[in-house]
Amino acid sequence: MNNLYSDLAEVYEIMYSSFIDYQLEYDLYKGFLKKYHKKSILEIGCGTGILSQLFIEDDYDYYGLDFSSEMLKIAKERNPSANFIHEDMRFFSLQRTVESVLMTGRTISYLVKNKDVESTFISIYNNMEKGSIFCFDFIDANEFIPEISNKKAITHKVNYKNITYIRKSKWNLNILNSWCFDWESIFYRKEKKTLLEIGKDNSTVRTFTKNEIELFLILNGFEVIEIIKKESYAFPTYVVVARKK
Ligand SMILES: C[S@@+](CC[C@H](N)C(=O)[O-])C[C@H]1O[C@@H](n2cnc3c(N)ncnc32)[C@H](O)[C@@H]1O
Repeated sequence: MNNLYSDLAEVYEIMYSSFIDYQLEYDLYKGFLKKYHKKSILEIGCGTGILSQLFIEDDYDYYGLDFSSEMLKIAKERNPSANFIHEDMRFFSLQRTVESVLMTGRTISYLVKNKDVESTFISIYNNMEKGSIFCFDFIDANEFIPEISNKKAITHKVNYKNITYIRKSKWNLNILNSWCFDWESIFYRKEKKTLLEIGKDNSTVRTFTKNEIELFLILNGFEVIEIIKKESYAFPTYVVVARKK
């Protein structure tokens, strides 16, 4: 069961704030917004609202969307005046269109079926103005799928306020329908010398080839304007910028 964004939302916040350099992420997306002159943003998969805060502080006209109420609760505590939308990215409708949609933190990985990618891209297209940009990152299947065929287990450790959080994960290929892996994790908290299990998360995570992404975009009315290789904490990723035609 996927618990990382519900029961474990606070643990997510603690661990991922240490894994991910959010300032670097912010600078990257802000760079695209500046380059293409966009001021209004919908961030899909905004999670606990770390990037939201930076966009709002910089006076962007910002909306965040996520389907986890637990993640949004933390996001709202961090950004009390922000506009957050509790919706599924596959089926949403905004009250007004935006100039840019950002889908951050490899959120596209949760669109395991092609029809989910299709309906998300259609929703995004319908809520944008012509010429708007759509920026997102995805895990590179060509690099990552062979990698996990060899490395099936990984441990991540974080120290936060004198408490150590540990995640022990197993990765298993699941490539029957698309380039996915099943990610089984057990989370622990270490206090003094005791290791306490604090939760489990089982998710199916999708990786994509560049060609697949390009095809999904073209089929849904976008043109690709940039694709950049980027390392993320545990994953080789690409960042894409596409434009609504
Ligand atoms: C990997 S996290 C990224 C969060 C944040 N962008 C970050 O970098 O910390 C993925 C986020 O996507 C959200 N999510 C997953 N599937 C979703 C869906 N179908 N609709 C909306 N949000 C979804 C999760 O709740 C989670 O907050």
